[in-house]
Amino acid sequence: MTSPSPIITVSGLSKTYSTGFSALKSVDLEIRRGEIFALLGPNGAGKTTLISIICGLVKPSAGTVLADGHDIQRDYRAARSTIGLVPQELTTDAFETVWSTVSFSRGLFGKPKNPAFIERILKELSLWDKKDTQIRRLSGGMKRRVLIAKALAHEPRILFLDEPTAGVDVELRQDMWQMVRRLRDGGVTIILTTHYIEEAEEMADRIGVISKGEIILVEDKAELMRKLGKKQLSLQLQQPIAALPAALSGFDLSLSPAGDEIVYTYDTQAERTGITTLLQGLGEAGIRFRDLSTSQSSLEDIFVSLVKERA
Ligand SMILES: Nc1ncnc2c1ncn2[C@@H]1O[C@H](COP(=O)(O)OP(=O)(O)O)[C@@H](O)[C@H]1O
Ligand SMILES: [Mg+2]
Repeated sequence: MTSPSPIITVSGLSKTYSTGFSALKSVDLEIRRGEIFALLGPNGAGKTTLISIICGLVKPSAGTVLADGHDIQRDYRAARSTIGLVPQELTTDAFETVWSTVSFSRGLFGKPKNPAFIERILKELSLWDKKDTQIRRLSGGMKRRVLIAKALAHEPRILFLDEPTAGVDVELRQDMWQMVRRLRDGGVTIILTTHYIEEAEEMADRIGVISKGEIILVEDKAELMRKLGKKQLSLQLQQPIAALPAALSGFDLSLSPAGDEIVYTYDTQAERTGITTLLQGLGEAGIRFRDLSTSQSSLEDIFVSLVKERA
């Protein structure tokens, strides 16, 4: 069985701004149909530049983008009509009503009027009771939902969310995540950018890490956690010790300042964890423990160490 063709194919994409700044350096990326893909990277990494090019708002210096088979430059209208974009900056016409601004967005793509569809997305986004309200009267969170409704108004198969929860409170962030999942379940492919590791970890099926204009890694989330994840085993000692026994210098161990806890860091990828040998060695050194626990490093740790490695 062949795998279905990617819904977006980015090849050799580079962007040098007129300032001479090289914001993207030959990026290759494929987005799979129906997935939630998180583009994770620190501020200034090139996330907005990348999605602005894919959405046809910024011209690439080199490379190509196919959106559902359409070249974003040669076949702009067809490519763009498959895409909805929720921009990073909140921009809306303050004096329009929710209903008219969302309906207008649909019209921009030459789609026939479909009030029933607009009603459905407004209900889905809990904006139905605000349909006749002017945008300027809405809260920040509602304005963001209006932007999502606008992006969805022409029934795109692909939705880009550029930093959807930046500056959004925790509760609203949860709502946003639920809504994104519902959209995905309805068959929309979602690409979100974020500099919150927590968001990528919570939401994504796959994660791409971007740093200084380069995609440094693309991986299934679970695989990424498994591959790069380190585990730690903490041993609470019965009696504090002054120093780690020399016989155990082959293990990656650290001793707490109080001398009452040993932390062993090991690779989950390694064939053997070495725990049995370690515990044996501790026994031989006369060190007894009263409790032990393990913890797995979060995506945050992985991300920080990846970006550090590259710096
Ligand atoms: N119009 C522009 N002209 C010059 N430099 C720009 C422009 N837009 C963005 N940049 C620079 O390109 C880099 C990447 O920006 P951006 O794509 O917005 O990153 P991110 O979205 O990951 O924070 C930054 O260093 C930014 O200052
Ligand atoms: Mg950005």
